[in-house]
Amino acid sequence: MLITGTGRLAPIGLAPWGILIEGGRISWLGSPDEAPSSPDRIDLGGELVTPGLVDSHTHPVFAGDRSDEAAARLEGVPYGEGGILRTVRATRAADEATLERLVESRLRAALAAGTTTVECKSGYGLSLEEELRHLRIIGRVAERLPLRVVRTFLGAHAVPPEATSAAAHAADVADRMIPAVAAEGAADFVDAFCDAGFFDLAATERIGRAASDAGLGLRLHAEQLARTGATELGIRLGAASVDHLEQLDDEGVAALAGSETVATLLPAPATVLRDRLPPARALIDAGGRVALASDANAGTYSGFGTMPLVIGLGATLLRMTAGEALTAATAGGADALRRSELGRLEVGAAADLVAWDTDHEGAFALRLGALQPRRIWIGGKEVEAPHG
Ligand code: NIG
Ligand code: FE
Repeated sequence: MLITGTGRLAPIGLAPWGILIEGGRISWLGSPDEAPSSPDRIDLGGELVTPGLVDSHTHPVFAGDRSDEAAARLEGVPYGEGGILRTVRATRAADEATLERLVESRLRAALAAGTTTVECKSGYGLSLEEELRHLRIIGRVAERLPLRVVRTFLGAHAVPPEATSAAAHAADVADRMIPAVAAEGAADFVDAFCDAGFFDLAATERIGRAASDAGLGLRLHAEQLARTGATELGIRLGAASVDHLEQLDDEGVAALAGSETVATLLPAPATVLRDRLPPARALIDAGGRVALASDANAGTYSGFGTMPLVIGLGATLLRMTAGEALTAATAGGADALRRSELGRLEVGAAADLVAWDTDHEGAFALRLGALQPRRIWIGGKEVEAPHG
């Protein structure tokens, strides 16, 4: 199939353009008058076309509503472990069909907003049975939807009431839960909330080593609440990504810039928590690899289907250019998931494409969340047009 357009192909900035798709991948890309002929041809006119968005950090498996807690925080109540445990109670009590419906509607919203790959964490179960139940629900929903789903086991998201301490829970996650999750093939990555009041560096290191022994990738919640050194630990353990980084300092920026670990920035929860913003500009200027993701979750930002807004926040609050923000939400997210065949417009990359209701990527900033896809292709197949 040949797709052509007279508008911009972003972030590479080619216009006019043609893309030949064979076997679900981009097999040729260039100027339309040099395009190989194809019996199947679509012309998109002047619409902006980008890679499908890659949301590399979400927590979609939860029940309940913590809007009252968000309101209380705005009145000065600090963020802490209690909120996550409240969601754990509500989620453990939710039946399978209800949870599955919630996850499906959240992932459908993501797809409708142009996300073609989404990372989904467990982490509101905290016991092995409950965490596996959540990972299996993600797996079942993924089979029904066309978007690409990457699963992450976040057993160390908080200390469950039945555990005696954070260290004891981390040991259980490392020694018993991670091998069981890996044996079932229920996740690709392991994550841990390595932060003040949650899991310390020693507990996180134990989890990271267990992940690698089990053949699973590692990603961390790092430097959100305090500068703990989780970044350097993640780099040392070969983490694919360290996420949040609101409290990162110059030393941490330099460490990331000299590493293969992606810095995943989450401007939406930082805004909701009225927190410091992560040092996006410093990371990019130092040559670090940066991703932008939503962190859609139960308690600090509940916007599923809002990656266009997240790109807009990257380009405004985080002082990225529109092109940098778009790259961070496509190729950056793909690199953070170690799926570098995704999120790019180049020969050999997966043909995941979105045509947007604009002619320029500046619309992600200008419309701040109101930009909508017109058409979406995943692996070269058009998916149901979400907004006509
Ligand atoms: O990434 N920071 C840790 N976990 C989530 C929030 C979880 C919650 O409060 O329910 C996050 O922001
Ligand atoms: Fe998170």
